[in-house]
Amino acid sequence: MRDGPQLIVDCDPGHDDALALGLAHEHGNVLGITSVSGNAPLDDTTRNALGMAALLGSSAEVYRGEARPLVGEPRHAGGVHGTGGLGRVALPKHDRVISELHAVDYLIEATRKRSNVWLVPLGPLTNIARAIERDPMLASRVAGISLMGGSAGAGNVTAVAEFNIWADPEAAQIVMASGAHIRMSGLNLTRQWQSDDAIAARLKESTSVKAQVAAAILDDIHDRMESLGRGRRAALHDPCAVLAVTHPELLRFEGRHVTIETEGVYTRGMTVVDERPTPGIPEANVEVGYQIDSKSAMELLLRAFERA
Ligand code: RIB
Ligand code: CA
Repeated sequence: MRDGPQLIVDCDPGHDDALALGLAHEHGNVLGITSVSGNAPLDDTTRNALGMAALLGSSAEVYRGEARPLVGEPRHAGGVHGTGGLGRVALPKHDRVISELHAVDYLIEATRKRSNVWLVPLGPLTNIARAIERDPMLASRVAGISLMGGSAGAGNVTAVAEFNIWADPEAAQIVMASGAHIRMSGLNLTRQWQSDDAIAARLKESTSVKAQVAAAILDDIHDRMESLGRGRRAALHDPCAVLAVTHPELLRFEGRHVTIETEGVYTRGMTVVDERPTPGIPEANVEVGYQIDSKSAMELLLRAFERA
């Protein structure tokens, strides 16, 4: 769909990033795709983003982003997404090439050229933070930043930290403090939306190549989750951040003050969500997601891939 909200998707494919890209292309006007080191090293996430752009027939170019967090060494999630980012899934061959323009330059230039653009970061916030550092006005000129990251509850990589924030806490703090209109789809929300083998089976009934690839992605992540003892299901984390822009009526957000722990021995990478009952103290800087209509969301995701 070309007349949906204008989106720039920043991602680290990643199984759920790949599914989120399909949803974004169905219900949004994807202006550009930027890659970042996260689930896998930058070369892999960039290759996967390009493969998904080709599969989806995207009119958007793919822009290679940052290979390292603002502080410390790159962190990856090979245990979940495999060393190459998409496990055993091989995306269809294509002849697309990466843009010569760096992702951070693209983010700055594209948001200067167009108004009312939503940034949809689905991995560590390194690219977004670098762009804000270089051009602070970016925060106020974008329509918003709809990110998958953090949690108003338990973490995943640690008791309190979610991977995208934990992989680059300094970047996340720059984004949270930027003054941008932020929608946060954290684990407390995204864990409400789970895929299973029945969802993969429905996609396999479709003749669409996209659907067959999406089914392979789900089978692969379900295999991985099963091998980790978590059962054949997977939370659809990143697609939540897309629906938060294209279908906000399916989610419930509440204004909260959110800051990032960057120093804690046990809590580094935690999104500190202030849920004290006194409204307005401190002032909310983030719309935190608390509920999603996962049944409607799943139907939108399935139809996005089933459509030829
Ligand atoms: O913690 C979930 C997040 O980390 C998702 O974005 C997933 O793709 C991984 O990057
Ligand atoms: Ca991701």
